[in-house]
Amino acid sequence: MASAGKVKAAEAALSEVKDGMVLGIGTGSTVAIFIEMLGRRAAKGGLRVMGVPTSYQSAYLAAEAGIPLTTLDEYPVLDLAVDGADEVDGGLNLIKGGGAALTKEKIVDSAAKRFVVIADGSKLVGTLGAKFALPVEVMPVARRTAMARIGQLGGEPRLRDGADRKDGPCVSDNGNFIVDAKFEAIPDPAGLECRLKLIPGVVEVGLFVGMAHTAYLGGEVGVKRLDRKGR
Ligand code: 5RP
Repeated sequence: MASAGKVKAAEAALSEVKDGMVLGIGTGSTVAIFIEMLGRRAAKGGLRVMGVPTSYQSAYLAAEAGIPLTTLDEYPVLDLAVDGADEVDGGLNLIKGGGAALTKEKIVDSAAKRFVVIADGSKLVGTLGAKFALPVEVMPVARRTAMARIGQLGGEPRLRDGADRKDGPCVSDNGNFIVDAKFEAIPDPAGLECRLKLIPGVVEVGLFVGMAHTAYLGGEVGVKRLDRKGR
């Protein structure tokens, strides 16, 4: 849904896009707004960019918007990645994966020289995990074993359901399941990310620690910019 905050955040990220850039294109409703704006600006002329998508959703939206697509095989280093988030803390650590695209998002976002997060201001939290369950992508064969191990680490794991006339579990673009693990709070995101990634069958964890350079958090009247310290 195009809330004023999402639109303002997307506009702020658009102002960073320069002619000739190869962009990482995230996933979600805020990025969808960004893609549409980017397509409109490119169509006006004077801005030739290419995009590396992080999901079928962003690939199809970018194609519809007239943005040429490429891959990390062609461009292993991207100029800029723009992506959404489910939670952002003051240190610019993120929870992502609300759209089940966390694995490709982490690969693409980490390949960018600069990674910018766009979200409405409600995504800013004091401590990660306070509101949002942490998405973990798990191979189907490891569903029960990985969920048990996530439980031992203090999370309350729930297998995400499919949506929109899909019975059974949500299947990611990579053919895996998503386990949403509710923690009371995640005071040590880097430590938890490591512990979860050691669980056999865990493909990726929706904790993006120390990756984002800037977050644009949109509100009704303006946009708040947060920069990672030391960058
Ligand atoms: C998808 C994501 C999204 O970027 C995240 O869920 C935010 O989405 P939205 O902009 O719709 O709030 O991580 O996997």
